[in-house]
Amino acid sequence: MRHFIDLLDWDGDSLRKLLDDALRMKRARRRGKDLPVKPRRVLGLIFEKPSLRTRVSFQAAMAHLGGASVFLSNHEVGLGQRESLPDVARTVSQFVDAVVLRTFKHETVVEFAAHAACPVINGLSDYSHPCQALGDLLTMREQSGDLAGKTVVFVGDGNNVARSLAIGCGKLGVRFVLSAPKGYGFDDRFLRTYCEFVPDGDLTEEPAPAKAVKQADVIYTDVWASMGQENETKKRHRDFAPYQVNAALMRQAPAHAKFMHCLPAHRGEEVTNEVIDSPASLVFPQAGNRMHAQKALLKWIFAERQ
Ligand code: CP
Ligand code: NVA
Repeated sequence: MRHFIDLLDWDGDSLRKLLDDALRMKRARRRGKDLPVKPRRVLGLIFEKPSLRTRVSFQAAMAHLGGASVFLSNHEVGLGQRESLPDVARTVSQFVDAVVLRTFKHETVVEFAAHAACPVINGLSDYSHPCQALGDLLTMREQSGDLAGKTVVFVGDGNNVARSLAIGCGKLGVRFVLSAPKGYGFDDRFLRTYCEFVPDGDLTEEPAPAKAVKQADVIYTDVWASMGQENETKKRHRDFAPYQVNAALMRQAPAHAKFMHCLPAHRGEEVTNEVIDSPASLVFPQAGNRMHAQKALLKWIFAERQ
């Protein structure tokens, strides 16, 4: 079954094909010619955390593809509370053709997939956010065509978004540099997994942001405290203060460098208004591309189930 839990088992060619398909679907949409997926499919979304982009882009994508979607917050489902996680997975996967899960613990996605009778898509866990990486890579590909040899510098927390983007970049020959304060870099488990699944990847860490961005084609950041880390906010704000992406940091980068952020942004914290609203910022086309990338993903997932 075609689950989409991480990008680890994708190779560069399959990933490029998916992005090309996403671009074709984006153009078709602009011409008013969405290609429906047949037979009519239903997507279930079960979210333990809030969402704007992931939820709406998946639900809109299903409408464009001629299918339907059902959204359930965890308040309604009560994963592991009202009934066990395996029982929810076994039941809901008979009603829908795929499930998007947004969870606190990554293990919840893995366990759900183990018991589901339909494909499962990771719509963000505490460990990874592969759907975000697809939209990000699509945005970079639209900007620069072939991505091989480009450099993405992620300034901030070595979090779920950073991990998935690092893997996606590695698969496409993009150098990835993480610039994080001490204690917030990539964890050993991730680095071991990365080396195993992306043996040719170019992944480095440079704690000094001004040095890290010197060769950047893209400077990327995300919030300092992710969903579920709210009780660490005060400490994180202190630790990350020198890692703000502001005009002074952008001046250290090549003039052509673009700015990206998965959103939601905390303006004035990890990024200033002058950067996120500048001509170098790709954040809104990037957000829009979530839908196009996920359409190609849904098509790929449903193709196996014809
Ligand atoms: N970037 C992203 O996943 O946004 P949401 O949390 O709004 O879905
Ligand atoms: N790292 C953030 C990403 C939100 C899309 C979080 O997990 O809250």
